[in-house]
Amino acid sequence: MSISRIPFEQLPADARRAVADKTGSVHHTETMSGGMNSGIASVLHTDSGPVFVKGIPSDHHQVDAQRREAAVAPHLPASCPRLHWHIEAAGWSLLGYEVVDGRHADYTPGSADLELVEAALTELQAVTAPADLDIKEAADRWKNYAPPNVLHYFRGTALLHTDFAPDNILIVGGRARLVDWAWPTRGAAWLDPGALVLRLMDAGHPVEDAVDFAARFPSWRGADPAALAAFGAATAALWQEIAAQSPSAWKQGMARHAALLADHLAAGQ
Ligand SMILES: Nc1ncnc2c1ncn2[C@@H]1O[C@H](COP(=O)(O)OP(=O)(O)OP(=O)(O)O)[C@@H](O)[C@H]1O
Ligand SMILES: [Mg+2]
Repeated sequence: MSISRIPFEQLPADARRAVADKTGSVHHTETMSGGMNSGIASVLHTDSGPVFVKGIPSDHHQVDAQRREAAVAPHLPASCPRLHWHIEAAGWSLLGYEVVDGRHADYTPGSADLELVEAALTELQAVTAPADLDIKEAADRWKNYAPPNVLHYFRGTALLHTDFAPDNILIVGGRARLVDWAWPTRGAAWLDPGALVLRLMDAGHPVEDAVDFAARFPSWRGADPAALAAFGAATAALWQEIAAQSPSAWKQGMARHAALLADHLAAGQ
């Protein structure tokens, strides 16, 4: 369930004061577009420079995602903006990040952004999730959408992002920066290229081309075709469930892409 985004000025005074304790005086603010789960997503111009603040009420059911995002922050590669602070104040959970003054990635076929996204994901593919980091396991996340006998395919030690919506990738200075770690997951490294495939299809790539893009990553090339088929089937089941609950044209489209992907990967076994 999305929550409405409010300007920073509408936060309770005590929450704004807690931020100013970190940043110095706040001079002016801009509300960012993109995403839907953050009640606050603003760039603040402050005494100590600009800072991106995202926040959610502390009693909101998705506050756990915000706390997972804080927990994973120290383990992220350089393509991800630095987390400066995490505040819980006046009923709000607030994260203060390095500002990335970029634009959302363009995933359309032929876009020059795709190579930048490839470079950022290649960097992330090398990161192992520390064993003591309390994040979701891929096999758990997929367990309602895949039979028990295939769940072992999803296991692994890679740190996965899993949400490659184009508005979670900011392009600036010839680099792609990966934001929005609301769903950090430990699992098989090929799952992230797999998550990207569906987003590429949503941007107009035929399924073959989207899968070819995933095959740029060694993890995908090295994956057991039966594992990829299990992923395709699980992804199709997930999006079928989402689409059945909502008439949104975008969700219906994602469900169609996922069904095509499932067929394509099943044929590759
Ligand atoms: N470090 C940053 N600097 C500048 N802008 C950012 C930064 N991080 C995110 N943004 C912008 O703010 C938008 C919302 O942020 P983000 O994607 O992290 O949260 P969300 O999608 O609203 O929430 P959730 O984490 O619950 O999915 C992004 O789409 C992007 O446009
Ligand atoms: Mg987002």
